Amino acid sequence: MAQPKLKTTIAILGCGDVGSTLAYTLILQPICSEVILVDLKQDLLEAQVRDLSDATYRGDSGVKVRAGTHKDAGQADIVVITAGAKQKIGESRLSLLSRNLHILESIFSAMQPISPHTILLLVANPVDILTYFARKLSGLPESQVLGTGTSLDSARLRGILAEKAEVAPNSIDAYVLGEHGDSQFIAWSSATIGTTPLSLAMPSHPLTPAFKATISSHTRGAASAIIAAKGCTSYGIGNIAASICKYILFDSRSVRPLSFYQPELGCCLSMPAVVGRKGIIKAMPVQLDAEEQAQLEACAKGLRGVIEGAEKEVRADRELERALEQDQGA
Ligand SMILES: NC(=O)c1ccc[n+]([C@@H]2O[C@H](COP(=O)([O-])OP(=O)(O)OC[C@H]3O[C@@H](n4cnc5c(N)ncnc54)[C@H](O)[C@@H]3O)[C@@H](O)[C@H]2O)c1
Repeated sequence: MAQPKLKTTIAILGCGDVGSTLAYTLILQPICSEVILVDLKQDLLEAQVRDLSDATYRGDSGVKVRAGTHKDAGQADIVVITAGAKQKIGESRLSLLSRNLHILESIFSAMQPISPHTILLLVANPVDILTYFARKLSGLPESQVLGTGTSLDSARLRGILAEKAEVAPNSIDAYVLGEHGDSQFIAWSSATIGTTPLSLAMPSHPLTPAFKATISSHTRGAASAIIAAKGCTSYGIGNIAASICKYILFDSRSVRPLSFYQPELGCCLSMPAVVGRKGIIKAMPVQLDAEEQAQLEACAKGLRGVIEGAEKEVRADRELERALEQDQGA
């Protein structure tokens, strides 16, 4: 008789600000039975394991935290990738690409063989582009590779609309879609409070272009303002990533805006999806008006351009490596 699987493991690659906050959230909830931390900085890794373990000794968390290798991580139920350079003050997410793509490549070669059941959750930026490459580098089915995408931006949108409408954030159904970056857009036409369209639910805040622009710039610019003051954002994304891990391990079938491959657009970006034990269970269709559809297409075009540029860079790097190897062999 098949033995029941008793252990659920989440591996976190990169235990800096975001990775350690995620680990702490997983322990407090608790969401899994084991958290494996992996980082190239050995001193930091050991210190994080000890500090986080201290948080498990009180109460009934029961979660074991341990240091592991990239290879150990490849066998986890979920691998969360937060490893990567972070944005400097004023830096765009896309400018991190070159550095973080190299890190991603080295991670995947060190993790092999990856369990065919592993779900990959990308957090490192630029998250949509890295999700696209992770899908190729991992060899896993498309449905098992997802990025946090605009989940955090959508949470910020909920927060500000909840304040304006004087209702609880979880009564707001409104999404930021597209890129987790400058070309993101708000799906205003489908936003509701409860079942009431936003325009009816907030009579004191008519949805004028000026109102929409203020809210969009709040959700788009929130990270930069936090990074300028404290050097990183960690609590919001730690909480969001932990909740996505929960939806996966508990097969909750929640609908969230996540970054995943969009065959008709040729890139990964955020659209609403049903998330469960096998990753992206299915895309949830969303009705966009003509302006939002144009924003979605412009966003996808921009991301495809970045992907093509990065693919050229990867090819040039490989050719250079081959040429150097041939020189050394000659
Ligand atoms: N998607 C989102 O909404 C969101 C939100 C916040 C931050 N981020 C991104 O998350 C990433 C991490 O941010 P942070 O503030 O934690 O940075 P950080 O510098 O504090 O931590 C990154 C860690 O990754 C480690 N690392 C680097 N290469 C590695 C490798 N090959 N294997 C294992 N570990 C490796 C580093 O040693 C470091 O400890 C950044 O790219 C940041 O932009 C994304």
